[in-house]
Amino acid sequence: SATLNDLAVRAGLKYFGTCLSESYINSDSQYAALINDKTEFGGLVPENGMKWDATEPSQGQFSFSQGDITANTAKKNGQVLRCHTLVWYSQLPGWVTSGSWTRSTLQSVMQTHITNVMGHYKGQCYAWDVVNEAIADDGTWRTSVFYNTFSTDYIPLAFNIAKTADPNAKLYYNDYNLEYNGAKTDTAVQLVQLVQSAGAPIDGVGFQGHLIVGSTPGRSSLATALKRFTALGLEVAYTELDIRHSSLPPSTSALATQGNDFANVVGSCLDVAGCIGVTVWGVTDKYSWIPQTFPGAGDALLYDDNYNKKPAWTSVSSVL
Ligand code: XIL
Repeated sequence: SATLNDLAVRAGLKYFGTCLSESYINSDSQYAALINDKTEFGGLVPENGMKWDATEPSQGQFSFSQGDITANTAKKNGQVLRCHTLVWYSQLPGWVTSGSWTRSTLQSVMQTHITNVMGHYKGQCYAWDVVNEAIADDGTWRTSVFYNTFSTDYIPLAFNIAKTADPNAKLYYNDYNLEYNGAKTDTAVQLVQLVQSAGAPIDGVGFQGHLIVGSTPGRSSLATALKRFTALGLEVAYTELDIRHSSLPPSTSALATQGNDFANVVGSCLDVAGCIGVTVWGVTDKYSWIPQTFPGAGDALLYDDNYNKKPAWTSVSSVL
């Protein structure tokens, strides 16, 4: 029977993928079977294993055991690997957030981190999320140890370091709520332009796609937002797609609305030359990050807690 990556590739995408949870891959055989089915998920991204707190928990001490789980799985199965993420305000170890840095010392910390992590995975990552979530929801720059030290100069700096570390990886800016095409999207356009005018390389923008059932923009609005970035010469992708119900359990009609929302998101990628793939942020509702972060919300993925395909799975398969 039809599988999502096979359908996506036939529809012209490079992959339909998922994040891999390092917490469950070795303990749940049903979970592992789906992750390893490259006809269903032709792309993988580590849910947590390549983040700063996992890869450089103390300064200069690198650990790749968690990140290697996803990289090795993708290699073994022939899946496209997205690598995530290098410069982000969250999941940063305490030594970074509470250090007292100057531009020069923090630049050297970024240089060491990006060079070592990208160097370890050199040649394996189709794309790297070089900078993640640099913009607040109101369109102002998000404060972080990086912004507080450099203003926006850390952004082109990170892209320049990344290009040297792995010249063949596509270098992405990745963020959420770009789908609404509001002030935050405007600032993301400015971010791309500021990287480009600094003469630094940037290849793509990732739309995370953490959306809400019933409040997801329509297919053509979503395509309009994507095209703002392809117009700048970049590729785009949905990188962390999930569409959560605000109250649980969802009604039959809410499950149908969720399916329609998923179809609009995937359909918008098909409508935009330069939208290269879709990654969902998890396989099963059972292991999704949503209930912990948005209490009371959930059931945001394509498979339910018992690995049954939901109406949204059928909607996605029909639009592909
Ligand atoms: C989330 C993971 O899913 C959780 O397991 C973790 O506890 C927190 O981070 N934006 C991102 C992802 O770029 O890395 C986040 O992943 C979700 C929001």
